[in-house]
Amino acid sequence: MDSLIKLFASLLLFFLSSLLLAGEINGVESSHHHHHHLYGPKKLFVFGDSYADTGNIKNKSQATSWKVPYGITFPRKPSGRFSDGRVSTDFLARLLRIKTPITYLFKDYAGKKRLQYGMNFAYGGTGVFNTQSTSPNMTIQIDFFEQLLGNVYSQSDLSSSLALVSVSGNDYSNYLSQNGSIAALPAFIKQVVYQTEVNLRRIHALGVKKIAVPSLQPLGCLPRYASTSFQGCNETFNALVQYHNSLLEQVVAKLNNETKQTAFAIFDYYNAFFTVFKNKGENPGSRRFETPLKPCCEGSCANVDEKGVKMYTLCDDPTSAFFWDGLHPTQEGWKSVYSVLGKNLTASLIKR
Ligand SMILES: *[C@@H]1O[C@H](CO)[C@@H](O)[C@H](O)[C@H]1NC(C)=O
Ligand SMILES: *[C@@H]1O[C@H](CO)[C@@H](O)[C@H](O)[C@H]1NC(C)=O
Ligand SMILES: *[C@@H]1O[C@H](CO)[C@@H](O)[C@H](O)[C@H]1NC(C)=O
Ligand SMILES: *[C@@H]1O[C@H](CO)[C@@H](O)[C@H](O)[C@H]1NC(C)=O
Ligand SMILES: *[C@@H]1O[C@H](CO)[C@@H](O)[C@H](O)[C@H]1NC(C)=O
Ligand SMILES: *[C@@H]1O[C@H](CO)[C@@H](O)[C@H](O)[C@H]1NC(C)=O
Repeated sequence: MDSLIKLFASLLLFFLSSLLLAGEINGVESSHHHHHHLYGPKKLFVFGDSYADTGNIKNKSQATSWKVPYGITFPRKPSGRFSDGRVSTDFLARLLRIKTPITYLFKDYAGKKRLQYGMNFAYGGTGVFNTQSTSPNMTIQIDFFEQLLGNVYSQSDLSSSLALVSVSGNDYSNYLSQNGSIAALPAFIKQVVYQTEVNLRRIHALGVKKIAVPSLQPLGCLPRYASTSFQGCNETFNALVQYHNSLLEQVVAKLNNETKQTAFAIFDYYNAFFTVFKNKGENPGSRRFETPLKPCCEGSCANVDEKGVKMYTLCDDPTSAFFWDGLHPTQEGWKSVYSVLGKNLTASLIKR
């Protein structure tokens, strides 16, 4: 996929942007660099699932993301995010130096100023296919976006826009819960990646200039699927994830070739997760994430029994854990992933 020229261009752009990013990566808010704007995207449109949802699910009794202890780190109360705090969307917005885009749910309460950062259409629990009856699949999410074009967002608004397309595995957990056959999974993986391709094409055709699609994270390492003592990942699962990712890479290469521009970029969550597990944090030698596969919130997180007794236990310090619950990273986990990805992301996003 990478020609030498593209590689050289991205190295050059990375060099140009590394100064700007240095403050971000070290977590230092540097006002000195604040007003330098490279020609990076200034609007973020988000599609997908709980890895990117920042509060779209309306019925609060239906989602753990709206229940204690979700959100205890940020904003210190449940906010509809599936984490103790910020999620991928927040860290990507931060990297772009824009505010977290408003949720589709709150669009009617947002002023014009707030709408300028884009919009988040992601719903926890959803997939590219129907995985549940209560929230819209990605096709419907893109319909929502399309309906706003021409009134809320003009084509020129989209000229500096980025889409994040989060497909984190709900199609697979739903498939396995319905049919349970690992043997038939490869054929289904093809369908999921094909439908993802359809969605990517459509978002691009609607006018979004840059489209980022994360590689599938190592599902076999999620606490729910890892070994019982959280010591190791399920390699059967991860082999299937690698198959998904290899198909996705082919799709992105094909789309970039067809569009004659590098409009599509893969955010390599798969390798970034492993890098963070290995380093126990964003930097090698850190003491965080001592047992990286052990979640902070263990058990049936956010649920209480008939007597009101918690059906889960909470770790002392959520910043010490990579995973928040059985499926989702903590804020600190996401921060580390985006810190590892940071340099590459900026290079691929400002490339045009
Ligand atoms: C919200 O979800 C709960 C639990 O699934 C359900 O009983 C209730 O009817 C839902 N409320 C609305 C307004 O859909
Ligand atoms: C998405 O949901 C709609 C409404 O349920 C359905 O008609 C459509 O077939 C779904 N799309 C896919 C790709 O499954
Ligand atoms: C489950 O298997 C049946 C029969 O093979 C098939 O028709 C159905 O589509 C499968 N369900 C899913 C979610 O793939
Ligand atoms: C890995 O996951 C598969 C699918 O759920 C399961 O059949 C298998 O037993 C798991 N392997 C281990 C070592 O846990
Ligand atoms: C791009 O597509 C053309 C045909 O349209 C093909 O000849 C070429 O090999 C493709 N390049 C890559 C890198 O896939
Ligand atoms: C960053 O990009 C380089 C070159 O494309 C690649 O080899 C490396 O795996 C990427 N790292 C991450 C974390 O994505």
